[in-house]
Amino acid sequence: VTIAPPDLHRARHRALCVTLARLGLDALLVTHPPNIAYLTGFFGSAGVGLVSADLVVLLSDGRYHLTLQTLERMHEGQLATRVVPAGQSLDEIVAAELLQLAPARLGFEAHALTVRAHADLRRRLAVAGSPVELVGVDTAVESLRLVKDAWEVANFRDAGARLFDVAKCILPKALSGVIESKLAAEIEWELRRAGFEKPAFDTIVASGPNAALPHYRAGDRALETGDFVVIDFGGMLNGYAVDMTRTVTVGLASARQQQLLDAVAAAQLAAFEAVEPGVAAEVVDAAARGVLEAGGLGDAFGHGLGHGLGLEVHERPRLARRRAGVTQDALAPGAVFTLEPGVYFPGWGGVRIEDDVLATRGGGEWLTRSANQ
Ligand code: GLY
Ligand code: MN
Ligand code: MN
Repeated sequence: VTIAPPDLHRARHRALCVTLARLGLDALLVTHPPNIAYLTGFFGSAGVGLVSADLVVLLSDGRYHLTLQTLERMHEGQLATRVVPAGQSLDEIVAAELLQLAPARLGFEAHALTVRAHADLRRRLAVAGSPVELVGVDTAVESLRLVKDAWEVANFRDAGARLFDVAKCILPKALSGVIESKLAAEIEWELRRAGFEKPAFDTIVASGPNAALPHYRAGDRALETGDFVVIDFGGMLNGYAVDMTRTVTVGLASARQQQLLDAVAAAQLAAFEAVEPGVAAEVVDAAARGVLEAGGLGDAFGHGLGHGLGLEVHERPRLARRRAGVTQDALAPGAVFTLEPGVYFPGWGGVRIEDDVLATRGGGEWLTRSANQ
């Protein structure tokens, strides 16, 4: 895994400090792994970040000793690392680090700290006589992750092109008699051959009636002539997810099948054309939904239009209808997200087409299509 260069990590830290100042926080305890990766380049399975104005401190255990040394050297002066000594726990050294830093108001990630871990931290600090105030924070780092930086954009262009190549190679293999799970396995092999570290999620190969289930994975059904096959696959490249779906027919498409394929493609194109700097995500969803509704297919499109991509395969922005109490994201230049309209008919089949898009100052840029496709 290649990570973003130190100056971009420094910029992320500086941007986070602006958020912390706005929230009146002296420090932030970062426990959500993708957020730790974003701020430090650390992708290990156990770690905690502690961000203050001067420094990011990364704490982890002995398995990652060398990784931490390397990161500290790369980010000289802006990242300090601590390894759990023998006989102690990560929680203990986090508490010790906090006692030393002594922030008056400490933010923690309310969505990524268990009730037990929170109680435990509070108890440790209280026992040591610390007056620190713990403040739950919702999306401080996630909000920064909404807008991709130059290194992330370059990585997305690379990943999108690789995923497109995987599609070209595997779609012709959706032939009569092929078992869904075997085709999924071939796709995952091709993803790794294309340079992805791993699939971004369990590959979906949904044939015939299974294509009516948006959340199907891949089973033991054999593809049959006349089927729709929804093939949804993605990969992680340098920690970032790309995600793509194509729907093919086994044999020639019937007139009805072609009509549905065309309708979903038209809905996706309408959404793409609605992408402009700062547009509300729900407006882009509505552009796709409007096309399907006009074709009498509104009821068959039962999910949101898409989701943000990044260090997580599903992150902000959420492209869907407005929902009470849920923040509506705007698509700022630098946002990366999927456009994945679909129509589903229980017992018969379905169609979904999904591509990844970068919002730019001029509109949208396809990441998983070549310019002339
Ligand atoms: N396969 C997951 C998604 O498209 O969101
Ligand atoms: Mn997908
Ligand atoms: Mn998706």
